[in-house]
Amino acid sequence: MCGIVGYIGQNDTKEILLKGLEKLEYRGYDSAGIAVMNENGVHVFKEKGRIAVLREAVDSTLASSVGIGHTRWATHGVPSKVNAHPHQSESERFTLVHNGVIENYSRLKREYLPDVELKSETDTEVVVQLLEGFVNDGMEIEEAFRHTLSLLKGSYAIALLDKENKETIYVAKSKSPLLVGLGDNFNVVASDAMAMLQVTDQYVEIMDKEIVLVSEQSVTIKNLKGEVIERAPYTAELDASDIEKGTYPHYMLKEIDEQPLVIRKIIQQYQDENGKLTIADDIVDAVNSADRIYIIAAGTSYHAGLVGKQFIEKMAKVPVEVHVASEFSYNMPLLSENPLFVFISQSGETADSRSVLVQIKEHGYKSLTITNVPGSTLSREADYTLLLHAGPEIAVASTKAYTAQLAVLSILGAVAAEARGIASEFDLSQELGIIANGMEVLCDAKEEMEQIARDFLSTTRNCFFIGRAVDYYVGLEGALKLKEISYIQAEGFAGGELKHGTIALIEEGTPIIALATQEHVNLSIRGNVKEVVARGANPCIISMKGLEEEDDAYVLPVVHELLTPLVAVIPLQLISYYAALHRDCDVDKPRNLAKSVTVE
Ligand code: G6P
Repeated sequence: MCGIVGYIGQNDTKEILLKGLEKLEYRGYDSAGIAVMNENGVHVFKEKGRIAVLREAVDSTLASSVGIGHTRWATHGVPSKVNAHPHQSESERFTLVHNGVIENYSRLKREYLPDVELKSETDTEVVVQLLEGFVNDGMEIEEAFRHTLSLLKGSYAIALLDKENKETIYVAKSKSPLLVGLGDNFNVVASDAMAMLQVTDQYVEIMDKEIVLVSEQSVTIKNLKGEVIERAPYTAELDASDIEKGTYPHYMLKEIDEQPLVIRKIIQQYQDENGKLTIADDIVDAVNSADRIYIIAAGTSYHAGLVGKQFIEKMAKVPVEVHVASEFSYNMPLLSENPLFVFISQSGETADSRSVLVQIKEHGYKSLTITNVPGSTLSREADYTLLLHAGPEIAVASTKAYTAQLAVLSILGAVAAEARGIASEFDLSQELGIIANGMEVLCDAKEEMEQIARDFLSTTRNCFFIGRAVDYYVGLEGALKLKEISYIQAEGFAGGELKHGTIALIEEGTPIIALATQEHVNLSIRGNVKEVVARGANPCIISMKGLEEEDDAYVLPVVHELLTPLVAVIPLQLISYYAALHRDCDVDKPRNLAKSVTVE
């Protein structure tokens, strides 16, 4: 979702900003802009569409030593040049970029800016106009900035330029992510460290409601009262090569292929010196002292939660509920007496999940975040964190983070079980090793997957995924992948549920992707396939070795029955990838979607 960059220093500002924005493209956006300041004033460039279009529009000869940039994912107002950020105040003294949603912007406009004619339809423009209004009323810039922020309801990350003070970028955040990066004779601002890894790996966290004055030689953090706060920087442990595509045509394909490696890395990271899977004692104690676990997540992470429930309940015998984050806040179920909240989030920034975290913390409940991004908001704010170690995931459609989430959840289940004295029926590290090998086989089966995509999905307008037991949850994830990137209407269903409604949609040739990895429901799912075939469906059965039948489209290598989702999802990822490719879709940056969803 919206991304922010800023730079102050003696290098080529516009180029650093554009490169930074390119690194934020993965978050999802529909327009972009930069503003750079020099002795001649502020120069704003913005365009609808890709950064490449913006790059064309930027004056390549323009020299400047301070600037801000933005990728916009439309919330208030259509994607357009005029709604793109940066936005300027009436006199053009102030120029601002914003990520988040100002919920009370209409009221603020009515109350404080009745005579100001806004140029855009955005909530953001109100902020910059308000600020100028307060400065015109006689406030110093810092005071006006703080006062403006105090009136905002909702979420924001803001970077602001003042034409009268070319030595400072003013920065603030509340709920939306923003970091300050430190360099030698320069400093930067970025929504995430990846954006500015090109120039620095040293970052300072900004906390909600602080304001930060970023100049070439210094970074000053102040709290609401204006008191200066000291905070040590940290090193962003990201490898710049991890965020390059290399020879791959798309990040998604690269990330699918990385899955065996990620699983091996997770085994390593969670092993002690004796090769035993381990998790910090306080986390295991938190799991084992809870009477119920509430998993909170969104999108793919929610689907990982559904599978994770099976792992934790079957291994550690702790009851687990899984909830969609956006519903939970206002639709909270009756909680058990001693709950543990587990937030699953690739990015660690999903606003819906964070809002639940804030709420449950107010009740004093314990929380654990399972995330791919160390230092992310959900990680910082929860009591405990388990990392996915999947490396940066750039494609909007999540792949390696999902399997990493499953692997970490399985380890959590197994380690908690052991601590509860429940004997394990299998050696999880060994089984995860088998899974990594199986994943390699699947990643090598690209031609078969491409053929399946051609055979079943070339012209269809819809596709149904069915499965029973844990296969149902994998089907949900398969359907999400397919719809996200190919725009084919895809839905996942429990095999037994089809006849209660959905079967009405089956027509001649409707593709049905059925998963058959579970012995105890193999016959039933095959029965469901027969029901739809009798009504004209075109079945694509993906089964597990040992359960296969003659006409199955693909047979998965054998892995432990509880852990089949880790392999069964890979053909679904690849089939979705090829289906999207065949339809000329933008695989890595699907329309309307954002990678890091920082608004509720
Ligand atoms: C967005 C992305 C999805 C992702 C979901 C949750 O909607 O497009 O791919 O699954 O957010 O994100 P999280 O970072 O919390 O896992």
